[in-house]
Amino acid sequence: MRKRCMIVTGGGDCPGLNAVIRAIVKRAQQTPEWEIVGSINAFNGILTDPIELMELTNDKIAGIHVRGGTILGTTNKGGPFAWPVKQKNGKMIAKDRSDELINRMNELGIEAVINIGGDGSQKISQKLFEKGCNIIGVPKTIDNDLSATDYTFGFQTAVEIATDAVDKLVTTAFSHHRVMILEVMGREAGWIALHAAIAGGAEICLIPEIPYDIKKIVKTVNERTTGDSGFANIVIAEGARPKGGKMTYKRSNEFGHEKIKLGGAGIALENQLQEEGIHADIRTTILGHLQRGGIPSAFDRILATQMGVKAFEMVLNKQYGQMVAYRHPDLIAVPIKQAIAEPNLVQLNSPLMETARGVGIQFAE
Ligand code: F6P
Repeated sequence: MRKRCMIVTGGGDCPGLNAVIRAIVKRAQQTPEWEIVGSINAFNGILTDPIELMELTNDKIAGIHVRGGTILGTTNKGGPFAWPVKQKNGKMIAKDRSDELINRMNELGIEAVINIGGDGSQKISQKLFEKGCNIIGVPKTIDNDLSATDYTFGFQTAVEIATDAVDKLVTTAFSHHRVMILEVMGREAGWIALHAAIAGGAEICLIPEIPYDIKKIVKTVNERTTGDSGFANIVIAEGARPKGGKMTYKRSNEFGHEKIKLGGAGIALENQLQEEGIHADIRTTILGHLQRGGIPSAFDRILATQMGVKAFEMVLNKQYGQMVAYRHPDLIAVPIKQAIAEPNLVQLNSPLMETARGVGIQFAE
């Protein structure tokens, strides 16, 4: 009987997931004693009745590296340690089903698991590893907020999409002499905003790592827009907030979901600028989930493919409890525990920040 390795894609999707799946399967085909299966919708595939597993044969993975999303489906609600269960009174409670998950995986002959996901998913990986599961992590997120790796796949594609949006907003800002605000994702990290602001040539970039001084933004905008001329482009990360203020968020009502959903920072900024009596017209665009969809960039396909091959080699070497990390030009294994200890945030004195300041991008510090 062949050994079974199971792939799981968990958390928010991002471009490149399918390229990782394909690379794992292709690498495993070189060691015929292994077969690869995928759990449908993260670990839910194992915990539902009947169990939902996909055998990852050639016909399933052919050509999928160019497709966005994940052929396995995903969820960012609950998980094996907080499974949503409806009680008789209709109330939902979270149940720990991790022991059941491990028993079911043993019954199915699953010897190793490759969990492709962001910080939430890798926290689950660490807890399962501590319970004896043979698990390997692969870092995925458009936010690029996982430490221990130079980049997560999906991030570069999101930057391309955000930069394309800045480019489009610049031309209309120029024609109408307007202030254009673009809100991008990234949770508590300003990576997408910073990269898109540099690549797109925005005048102002607001990131969560630097609470902004609204008066400084007003000054810059007013200097750039006088009468019927001038324009200004602002890229704001969804996690950005004014000095002394809070992040803009809405609460999620979905059970088992992250309660705090960021979003609306751009509109909040527009309101603040209007309250400050700014004279130019302002328009705000929220880029939203467009950043997570569609075709992965060539960079992300390559990074995802490298990570998939490395992940399966880590299975062969029994490097369980470790996550694949990209440290240019190498792919290395790092303990998952270390990778989830601290988020990867923009360092204020990093070379990229120096570059941004060097071309006059204002952070309203
Ligand atoms: O972590 C990826 C991400 O896209 C964040 O940038 C964003 O805040 C969040 O997920 C959105 O989550 P959801 O898909 O649940 O709305």
